[in-house]
Amino acid sequence: MKRVTLEEVFLHPHAQKYLKRSGIAHAVAVAEYAYIFAKRFNVNVDLATKAALLHDIGHYTWYRDGEWDYELYQANDIHAIKGASRAHELLISLGEDAQAAKEIAIAILLHTDSYLPNGDLKLKPLQQVVALADEADEEAGGNHHYKQIDIPEALERIRAIDAQISHEYKKEKLRVSE
Ligand SMILES: [Fe+2]
Repeated sequence: MKRVTLEEVFLHPHAQKYLKRSGIAHAVAVAEYAYIFAKRFNVNVDLATKAALLHDIGHYTWYRDGEWDYELYQANDIHAIKGASRAHELLISLGEDAQAAKEIAIAILLHTDSYLPNGDLKLKPLQQVVALADEADEEAGGNHHYKQIDIPEALERIRAIDAQISHEYKKEKLRVSE
């Protein structure tokens, strides 16, 4: 089966819409970190980078009187739940393998414990990689959501990750057929 690329995921209209809201620069940086951590912890780079790219697409903007309201956000936020569901739908619509789509959605669901009463999660390696990658790009006061990047640069960096992933897959295939 042909791999659904990170580029296809990134260019999906829903990804574009929601990534603009939560920050394209942050999403791309987290996908790059996820690649590095996935290699380090021997996790599937394809699943890790897709989950990382999409991890924040569940964000809603909590404004009160035209101003961002952090209290409202903290009290009502369910971005991990919403993001998991949006990512799953988006991936399936692109023809992603159902098992992969599920793994990615769960990694998104568990990338933060902010919505859980006493977040004490036992994460699997893929989920850990996505959470670590997110943390690696985090800035004080949620500033990572406001970093700017233009689409051509974002696309170039996404394509670079795709190229690394297909290189990995080719190496893997060679190893299996040896
Ligand atoms: Fe994030």
